[in-house]
Amino acid sequence: MINNLKHIEPLDRKQILTELPMASRHCLAGLEILERVDSTNHYALAQHLAPFACLAEYQTAGRGRQGRQWVSPYGSGLCLSLKQHYSTLNESLAGLNIALAVTVTRILHDLGITKVGLKWPNDILWQGKKLAGLLLEKRGNDVVIGIGLNVKMPAVETISQAWVDLYTIFEEHGLKKISRNTLASLLIAQCLDTLIRYPQIGLVSFLKDWHNFDLSYGQQVTLKFPQANSITGIACGIDEHGALLLQVGQHRQHYNYGEVSLRL
Ligand code: BTN
Repeated sequence: MINNLKHIEPLDRKQILTELPMASRHCLAGLEILERVDSTNHYALAQHLAPFACLAEYQTAGRGRQGRQWVSPYGSGLCLSLKQHYSTLNESLAGLNIALAVTVTRILHDLGITKVGLKWPNDILWQGKKLAGLLLEKRGNDVVIGIGLNVKMPAVETISQAWVDLYTIFEEHGLKKISRNTLASLLIAQCLDTLIRYPQIGLVSFLKDWHNFDLSYGQQVTLKFPQANSITGIACGIDEHGALLLQVGQHRQHYNYGEVSLRL
């Protein structure tokens, strides 16, 4: 799938590295820019270095949550994966997933996208439309977080849900556009910081921002499970491990997986 290449700012390893804060540059063991790859998550998981980051202009088999495909035409988004190795993995990965989703959403909010919000566990939406998504995968004690962010997308008919891209939002709000490479540096630096510090700081310091960005809070939502059954309740935020809290009748229940659907 080829985008209109004239309008693309190519990913540039040198620029991304130059714009990284010194601390991130020093701790990153590898950064690769790939023209084309099956999936940056798959690629990162196969590397022996950590922390390791890779970005691709195009993924032939981009992975999304719940076994879905992540579709991003050539050069039209950011497809980024970051790998970290943990000596032990005591902390819940559900919490790390939430912490990273909050990290990415804070970046977008700080760029002026005030209406950006989160749908549990890590869908980043703007006015009900998908702007970005995260996919956390694990192999042994290696964790890879994959971030897909729509930057400047052509019309794509193969994406089943409503979506939006960053440049459309910037235009709508008269905001200054950010370079793809600058954005890549911001994502790498701040997500790396979260990945590294998470075993010490845990989820606590992300809970307030989760609550601020939470689009479901207090709403009736339906949680759909892979087995095709579902449960409906009132969303009451998340617990200290990152599980979704649903008030179902008299009971407050904790859920670790499923797909939330809400009416925005
Ligand atoms: C979702 O379904 O919302 C998660 C999408 C995650 C997509 C990103 S793109 C970079 C990385 N590589 C992949 O194959 N998937 C993630």
